[in-house]
Amino acid sequence: MIAPSILAADFGRLAEETAAVRGADWLHVDVMDAHFVPNLSLGMPVVKALLDSADIPVDCHLMVDDPDRWAVDYAEAGAYNVTVHVEAAADPVKLAANLRAAGAKAGLAIKPDTPFEPYVELLTHYDTLLVMSVEPGFGGQDFIPSVLDKVRAARRLVDRGELRVLIEIDGGINADTIEQAAAAGVDCFVAGSAVYGADDPAEAVTRLRRMAEAS
Ligand code: DX5
Ligand code: ZN
Repeated sequence: MIAPSILAADFGRLAEETAAVRGADWLHVDVMDAHFVPNLSLGMPVVKALLDSADIPVDCHLMVDDPDRWAVDYAEAGAYNVTVHVEAAADPVKLAANLRAAGAKAGLAIKPDTPFEPYVELLTHYDTLLVMSVEPGFGGQDFIPSVLDKVRAARRLVDRGELRVLIEIDGGINADTIEQAAAAGVDCFVAGSAVYGADDPAEAVTRLRRMAEAS
C-alpha cells in the first residue's frame, strides 16, 4: 500500500492535490502541534476539508502532545486510521479502545530511537504500527535504515500470528529506499516528497507500488 503524505503537497490547492493521488491506498495527513515536534502543520479544520475532498481513506498521523485528549476527534470526524505516538500517549490501551469505538483503526507510532520490543503486548490493542524512519517533524529528510530491524521484528511476530498489525513506515521513502523497506516486511509506505515532488504524482504512486511489489 502507498500512502502519499499531504505535507509535501501545495497547501494552496489541497483538493486538487488530493485528487492527484486518487489511485493511492491511503492519504497520509501529518498533524503537528509545535510541541511534540518542533513544527506546526495543520489541524482539525483542514483535516475536515481533506476528509470531504478525499475519495480514499484518510490516515491521520498525530504528532501532538496529549493525544489522549485530541485523537478521538479525528476518528469521529471520519479518519480511517488514527495514529498516535507511544512517546506521547498517557493511556495508550484506553486510547486505542476509544479510537476503535469511534469507528477508526488505531495506530501506534514509534520514533527512530524508540525500541519496538517493550510495546509488543500493547500492540495487541492496535491495528497499525507506524515505524518512523526519520525524526518526526519535517518532510524531505533522509531515510534511517537501522529502523528496519524493528520492521523485521514486527514482521516475524505478524507472520507467526502473534501480532495482528499492519506495518507502516514513514519518512524518506522514495525509489532508492522503498525496496529495502519492502524486503524487511513493510505493508504500507508513506511517501511525501517522492510523490508530490514528482512531475506526475499519480505515476509516482504507481511506480513506488511496483517497486515494493517486486521486492
Ligand atoms: C514526518 C512526517 C512524514 C513526512 C514524510 O514527520 O510524519 O509523514 O511527510 O515526508 P517524506 O516522504 O518527504 O520523508
Ligand atoms: Zn507522517
